[in-house]
Amino acid sequence: MLDISITRTGNPSAKPGADKALRFGRIFTDHMFLLDYTQGEGWHGARIVPFGNLSLSPAAMVFHYAQEMFEGLKAYRAPDGRTLLFRPDMNARRMGTTCARLCIPEVPQEDFLQAVNTLVHLEKDWVPSQEGSSLYIRPYIIATEGVLGVAPSKTYLFVIILSPSGSYYEGGLTPVGIWIEDDYVRAAPGGMGYLKAGGNYACSLVGQVKAHGAGYAQALWLDAVHRRFIEEVGAMNIFFKIAGRVVTPDLSCGSILAGVTRDSVLTLCRDWGIQTEERPIAIDELLECWGRGEVEEVFGTGTAAVISPVGRLCYKDTVHTVGDGGIGPLSRRLYDELTGIQYGRLADRHGWTREVQGTVNLGVPI
Ligand code: COI
Repeated sequence: MLDISITRTGNPSAKPGADKALRFGRIFTDHMFLLDYTQGEGWHGARIVPFGNLSLSPAAMVFHYAQEMFEGLKAYRAPDGRTLLFRPDMNARRMGTTCARLCIPEVPQEDFLQAVNTLVHLEKDWVPSQEGSSLYIRPYIIATEGVLGVAPSKTYLFVIILSPSGSYYEGGLTPVGIWIEDDYVRAAPGGMGYLKAGGNYACSLVGQVKAHGAGYAQALWLDAVHRRFIEEVGAMNIFFKIAGRVVTPDLSCGSILAGVTRDSVLTLCRDWGIQTEERPIAIDELLECWGRGEVEEVFGTGTAAVISPVGRLCYKDTVHTVGDGGIGPLSRRLYDELTGIQYGRLADRHGWTREVQGTVNLGVPI
């Protein structure tokens, strides 16, 4: 268990008023969590300090070789005043997977959970109560050794910052247009597409810029080898409802993130008796289904947006409209059920939410 020292700010910021519409990731709470790693000593120096700039060597390896990872999860304000986290044990586990691939020393899962719980508890008055808002939690680790040789860093910094946030897309649940990218790729087999690593997002920006230029919100990524199999959309997993079945790419290709929302959507669909399929989906198969009028709904899933309905897709200059271009009934039902559980308004049959406690430990992860 971590021994976390707390230094409170002498200069607290004004919290956004309940009447203020929050944007995503623009403002931050008064405090942040820090933990150092030094080779030979391990993780040490757990502390919560006032939110502020970090001081790093300009030679720090993170700036040059991108040895870095991050996570994303949210804390929600329940109607009875409790503060709830959604499946934080999955973030703790996934952080371990990412660290192992990037030669970053793993933070023990129980330490990750304790750090998140302790910081969110300290900042619980920052958890917003506006409809659709939450406290976005951004844990990350950076390589800090100031040496230019290419090798795993001998020192690291683990940081957690908190941002009271509204919807990821300013249009909320309004369906977005998607550009199917068949030139650039996001990730390749054997690479790091399945990780929460900044590099994956850096190399996806060109697709976003191209999509925006063509009048679409995000790019849909195809596989690197054949430019044929559908992988992810923007920073989200992708789902299709085709002839009554819910289909999403399986994770075995190694280039798709194991999303927490993805897993929750599959579980809810199975609970509801909807047939689900995790398998490769080729773009030509999708177009054939479109031709037969079988594509009923398309949506992205992710922590930030939860469910993001897709209204139209553009592939090689042809635009395919999903249904009537509005929010499909399954997308709406999933959004309502997931957010209902996250905000503590609906029964949590799977035990997904964890209440943020004044006691420091959230329990050993499953
Ligand atoms: C998510 O929704 O899970 C994300 O990773 C989005 C984040 C990169 C802003």
